[in-house]
Amino acid sequence: MLSKGIDKGFVISPGRVNLLGEHVDYNDGMVLPAAIDRSVKISFQRGAGSHVSISAPDMNDECQFSIDNLESKTTIKGEALPDWALYPAGVIWNIQRRGFVVGGFSAEYRSTIPIGAGLSSSAAVEVGFAVVCESLGGWRLDRMEMAQLCQEAEREYVGVNCGLMDQFACACGVQDHALMLDTRSLAYKPLPLPEHTSLVIADSTLRRSLITSAYNDRRRDCETAVAYFNKIDPQINSLRDLDQELLFAHENKLPPHVFRHARHVVEEIDRVNRAVRLLEENNAEGFGKLMFATHASLRDLFEVSRPELDILVEIAGSIDGCFGARLTGAGFGGCTVNLIQESHVEEFIGKLKTVYKYKTGLEAAIFATRASRGAFLKNQ
Ligand code: GLA
Repeated sequence: MLSKGIDKGFVISPGRVNLLGEHVDYNDGMVLPAAIDRSVKISFQRGAGSHVSISAPDMNDECQFSIDNLESKTTIKGEALPDWALYPAGVIWNIQRRGFVVGGFSAEYRSTIPIGAGLSSSAAVEVGFAVVCESLGGWRLDRMEMAQLCQEAEREYVGVNCGLMDQFACACGVQDHALMLDTRSLAYKPLPLPEHTSLVIADSTLRRSLITSAYNDRRRDCETAVAYFNKIDPQINSLRDLDQELLFAHENKLPPHVFRHARHVVEEIDRVNRAVRLLEENNAEGFGKLMFATHASLRDLFEVSRPELDILVEIAGSIDGCFGARLTGAGFGGCTVNLIQESHVEEFIGKLKTVYKYKTGLEAAIFATRASRGAFLKNQ
């Protein structure tokens, strides 16, 4: 039902952490992310005409563009949009493409999600601005549709060929729950985190480099494997369809790196399947073991870890009360996620910080986080 929309408001849009199911969302697999209590906060106000004016004090920058000229990716002065502005502009571009009305507005946003740390700061911006447009426009988007719209904006406007997981978690997050999303059927369900556990995020402080090209290379390797197996069995249309036995039977026919990368995906999909049952059984130990296994696989098979992330995971594994630890997100830098017994959180954070500093000379930012609800308009 259409209403007039509101004239000003405040949107909170969370980052996400992925617990299990890494690099499988573009292979039709299952993922297990949670929205977190670090977020992007956007205050907005309706404006006249078709001008959008966004200020980003965190980046010490601001930008104005016209919603009538989004294809050009330029500001109203005709300069190229700064990188950070491509995310909100892309979302508005795609909302209009889908036939929803968007008018001019001004907004200011700040973020408590570290940028480039693998916690989906960009998906939080995208989903946050989709909620801003929805609130101003007075129309409503189903949350899964909103996630897809934002993913499409990132792929087609920003130019990053990402999967659906990040936007999905930011849009559909449920307080105190992880979300199991089947990226093939798009069915999803919230699953409670094990009782008396906390999620702790450790930021290695390494910012991800060459992420887009390395990410796209991994995608290409997965496609190469699918193309090979599709000739053997036309029913195999993604790595989701491939079983471990068939993969191993053809190990010598595939380039070694393609085999390793495909093996990670096939085994990771299997791990998520097992993890769902473990969460339903409230089995923190079993779930944690799968987290360690995922890390080893991302390090040795998928080759997206870095020594500092390996060190964080190794130290975490030696501290009392740690059920599991692994790098989270695309890799190549960023953060680890740790499943910790509630009563041990402070001690865990202190020890991890100290030993990491001793081993690497780096000051990791380490904080406990809580699974949170998806993006929302605060004044409702
Ligand atoms: C990035 C992408 C996601 C997903 C992860 C890896 O965060 O945006 O779609 O592919 O990497 O699991």
